[in-house]
Amino acid sequence: HKKPGIVHNGVLYPHLVTKEILEAMKSFQTRDDDIVIVSFPKTGTNWTLEIVTQILQATGRSPAKSDDHIIGKLEFKYPEDPHPSYVLLEDAPSPRVILTHLKPGTAPPGIANPRGKEKILVVMRNPKDTAVSHYHFILKRRNLDATQLPWPKYCQDALAGKESHGSFFDHVLAWWEKRDDPHFMFLKYEDMKKDIASEVKRIATFLEADLDAATIAGIAEKCTFEGMKATLDNSRYEDRRVMARKGVVGDWKNYFTEEQNQAFDALYDEKLKGTGLDFEFE
Ligand code: PPS
Repeated sequence: HKKPGIVHNGVLYPHLVTKEILEAMKSFQTRDDDIVIVSFPKTGTNWTLEIVTQILQATGRSPAKSDDHIIGKLEFKYPEDPHPSYVLLEDAPSPRVILTHLKPGTAPPGIANPRGKEKILVVMRNPKDTAVSHYHFILKRRNLDATQLPWPKYCQDALAGKESHGSFFDHVLAWWEKRDDPHFMFLKYEDMKKDIASEVKRIATFLEADLDAATIAGIAEKCTFEGMKATLDNSRYEDRRVMARKGVVGDWKNYFTEEQNQAFDALYDEKLKGTGLDFEFE
């Protein structure tokens, strides 16, 4: 099976990330019309990407694509691609939609501290569903079965920040510090699930796309889980093919034991209390 990947500044990255790529992030140049989607893995990256793409298309702008894929995670080198995504992006026409799982300290300066007109969407999801989704994804990506990486082992490591992309809490809290910066907008998976049309409208407003109610409703319809599943399942990128799993809020209840749940809740309170950041779990 595949190796998990490198450790950089105490964070474990998937095998698609190299030290050279992380080093190159320091000099990656953003553009005024860049749209960036920032996320901890499995929190709704592809969902937000689909919404942003539909909004751009509705206003006659089309994001740069490589085949069926809007150029993938900034810090990844996909086996299907000739170059790391950041290199492909350097030559891509505007508007670019850039995806990244990096934290502010590792992300390019133009994303962590934008000085131009870049628009940064930060997507978040409740950490229990995120963990379950990530667990399934990691099994597939590392070609393991559940006996080789049992849920309790993954859950414990994820809680300790030792799994892929490090601690969920460190990640979301680091981006949450940007909440008063007008370059940033924050989205939650649970809100998108509850009222997709409202969230599409909010994103359109942030992107300065003037869309009528019928267009918003049409985009919302296309961006349901069912609406997106076929596109993801048919991608030539392995990464995207394993993306559409369940698409629900609350699947964590099928995985967390009482003990795991208490440990998770204790850490949740310790990390998020008083920060203004909170999540819904069902
Ligand atoms: S990744 O690898 O970080 O880019 O993954 P990401 O896209 O962030 O997250 C994948 C999860 O999002 C779910 N998903 C959706 N849920 C609801 N509606 C729509 N349209 C949708 N599209 C993707 C996807 O199913 C993964 O969650 P789980 O819980 O595993 O199903």
